[in-house]
Amino acid sequence: MPQSGREPSPTDQKVLVVDYGAQYAQLIARRVRECHVYSEIVPHDLPVEEIAARKPSGIILSGGPKSIHSPGAPQVDPSLFGLDVPVLGICYGQQAMAQSLGGEVARTGLAEFGKSELKVEAPNSILFSEQPVEQTVWMSHNDTVVRPPDGFRVTAATPASPVAAFEAAERRLFGVQFHPEVAHTPRGTEILKNFLYDGCDLLPSWTMTSIIESAIEDIRDLVGSERIVCGLSGGVDSSVAAALVHRAVGDQLTCVFVDHGLLRQGEAEQVEDTFRRHLKIDLIHVKAADRFLDNLADVTDPERKRKIIGETFIRVFEEVARDELEDARFLVQGTLYPDVIESGTRDAAKIKSHHNVGGLPEDMTFTLVEPLRNLFKDEVRRVGEELGLPEEIVWRQPFPGPGLAVRIIGDITHDRLELLRAADAIVLEEIKRAGMLREIWQSFAVLPAVRSVGVMGDERTYGYPMVLRAVTSDDAMTADWARLPYELLETISNRVVNEVPGINRVVYDITSKPPGTIEWE
Ligand code: XMP
Repeated sequence: MPQSGREPSPTDQKVLVVDYGAQYAQLIARRVRECHVYSEIVPHDLPVEEIAARKPSGIILSGGPKSIHSPGAPQVDPSLFGLDVPVLGICYGQQAMAQSLGGEVARTGLAEFGKSELKVEAPNSILFSEQPVEQTVWMSHNDTVVRPPDGFRVTAATPASPVAAFEAAERRLFGVQFHPEVAHTPRGTEILKNFLYDGCDLLPSWTMTSIIESAIEDIRDLVGSERIVCGLSGGVDSSVAAALVHRAVGDQLTCVFVDHGLLRQGEAEQVEDTFRRHLKIDLIHVKAADRFLDNLADVTDPERKRKIIGETFIRVFEEVARDELEDARFLVQGTLYPDVIESGTRDAAKIKSHHNVGGLPEDMTFTLVEPLRNLFKDEVRRVGEELGLPEEIVWRQPFPGPGLAVRIIGDITHDRLELLRAADAIVLEEIKRAGMLREIWQSFAVLPAVRSVGVMGDERTYGYPMVLRAVTSDDAMTADWARLPYELLETISNRVVNEVPGINRVVYDITSKPPGTIEWE
């Protein structure tokens, strides 16, 4: 409900996605938001009273990896269906719903994985309203609902699933065995919209304009007339957060950009140009490359490199804070929704110590402002576009805090950095020219510490190879090497060897993660 004295916020009406594991919940939540309805993910063991306390306008039970009959498989508390809130069960969610309300779920021996042909048996149903009677859907299940609970009618079936969809329209309860959230279900988004707009009576109010307006209002409420600081890294999240805060409180914001000299070609200039000249944001650009390089001299151990960078960053920031940010009380952080969801559940085992170069001195007491906390990455990018940030920043690939330091094996020297930067710039340029920037998670050059013999013209060369790394991924937890076209590999190889003296070979890393990591270090 809107609080008194305030415009209604687009998060006032929300759909809760109950997470039964596997990777589906985030995708469902994103799809719901693409239908312009705000959604949040909650764990499946959240008690019904707490679900009710969040006042959802609709609930979606996600798919999950378990069999409903396996020991310890999560169940749904039947009182959830007495809240008078519309519920849609998807895959495992449908089965859990059926079981909880007295229907029957069985292992019939007819599993379905991949595409199935769905026949709509109740074209006047809410979910299938204005849908073709025959359509393709994407399935992934062993168990099947074989009898719906009393009071439900079957609305669609496939050859292997007699109850591929059911509903109790007057109670506003719905279930589908297939996955409407995946792209392989071509009508999936329309089915979700039918649930949201007709099943839950929701309005499509989660729009870029409303997101920005309500974020601005929240920031103003929190910050008042106090001074606020944002550490810029040049990445998408801190850039969008800064632009948003600036839109809210203008000159009260000061951005601090600690340039550690480990950025890619042109990035420092781009940050300066965008924020100081274009957006007219007060920017402290600390050019600390020499200091970082001095501290890194002769250090080859990757973990020590990270530690030194983290510590140097803190020292530099402390000095700026002492000298120039004395009266600032608030600090902007570009935390995103997936960080919020995962921070409680993420596997504690660390492969590498991820030193966030945005890390701050421990004794600085700021109140955090996290204007992107509710947003997924694709939403952050759209907010960035809406706020007028350039494409180069909004669509930038993720870049590690310690920068090129994790892409130079062995000594980090000025000359080796220049070599890597020049080669890396060619990689990026060619990936962009091939139109592949957005489909690739990260693409970059790595400089190893070995050298080998080559021949150019009549001359023998003795130079470094450049390792090309290009991966596809959804979240960097797992990744696969990108199947780049041979012609693109050829162009990159030719250009790098011809244009970057000191590099005489190009090799392509074809290791997935796991067992490899994305960065080399
Ligand atoms: P790895 O190499 O562990 O990297 O597969 C996974 C993702 O994390 C990024 N990465 C970092 N990001 N600070 C960051 O902000 C770091 O210290 C750091 N180390 C790795 C990496 O680029 C990839 O996207």
